[in-house]
Amino acid sequence: MKRVLITGASSGIGKQLSLDYLEQGWSVVACGRNQERLRQLSDSSHYDYRSFDTNDREQTRLALADVDDLELVILNAGSCEYIDDAKQFDAELFDRVFSTNVMGTVNCLAALLPNMSEGSQLAIVSSSVTFLPLTRAEAYGASKAALDYLTRTLAVDLDHQGISLSLIRPGFVDTPLTQLNDFPMPGRIGVKEASNIIRTGLEKKKKEINFPFVFIAVMRLLSWLPHSLWHRIAVSMARSAA
Ligand SMILES: NC(=O)c1ccc[n+]([C@@H]2O[C@H](COP(=O)([O-])OP(=O)(O)OC[C@H]3O[C@@H](n4cnc5c(N)ncnc54)[C@H](OP(=O)(O)O)[C@@H]3O)[C@@H](O)[C@H]2O)c1
Repeated sequence: MKRVLITGASSGIGKQLSLDYLEQGWSVVACGRNQERLRQLSDSSHYDYRSFDTNDREQTRLALADVDDLELVILNAGSCEYIDDAKQFDAELFDRVFSTNVMGTVNCLAALLPNMSEGSQLAIVSSSVTFLPLTRAEAYGASKAALDYLTRTLAVDLDHQGISLSLIRPGFVDTPLTQLNDFPMPGRIGVKEASNIIRTGLEKKKKEINFPFVFIAVMRLLSWLPHSLWHRIAVSMARSAA
């Protein structure tokens, strides 16, 4: 039986991935902070959960110390907060977002990588925000850009160990995280569709899994514009949102 560990599994994308991998016959280790939501996720004998805060390195190390025989690890836990006033720059907000998205992922890597063996797979969930500089996304976008670089360099350095890396960059997915957004979310898809795309991409060991297709195609085209032109478009988007 194949075994997958998923962080951020108490909600949204990670929860759906956990349920779908269980249905596919995998053994699942689901991680999050909310113990009650993790407990209620499944009563399958192939289901196990760990509740810990990924921001806490020691807690993360202890919670994951005895997890081995993993075919697949999906580091998906993350949070999003926006910078509302760039002039009154909120360093604490920036710190919170970076701690969870970057250092939380790093703490999981430090705990899990020594026990991962040849032939296993590691996936890190970033975001399509990294295609373009978008209004109010200073903290979230920069944290996800750090994950892009981290994943791509790990792919280089773990290749000879036989561990393959996948960078996952979703567009808008309907989850508790995006339900807080107060702006239009073009191309938003459901968690079931997101999980199907991610699992298919991981099965094919894709280096990058970007979705949904049309939204990503538009983001990609816009990212090819001269920077000065995109800058003018982004500024007018920021002005009309203000
Ligand atoms: N939804 C989208 O449109 C979208 C788009 C692009 C990228 N993403 C990325 O996809 C990932 C999942 O997002 P989602 O939309 O499914 O969000 P979500 O429903 O809010 O789920 C976030 C998950 O992360 C966990 N988490 C957050 N902080 C944590 C911490 N310090 N320690 C341990 N677990 C923590 C939460 O666990 P607890 O609740 O138990 O604390 C929860 O299970 C995130 O990395 C997000 O940035 C989402």
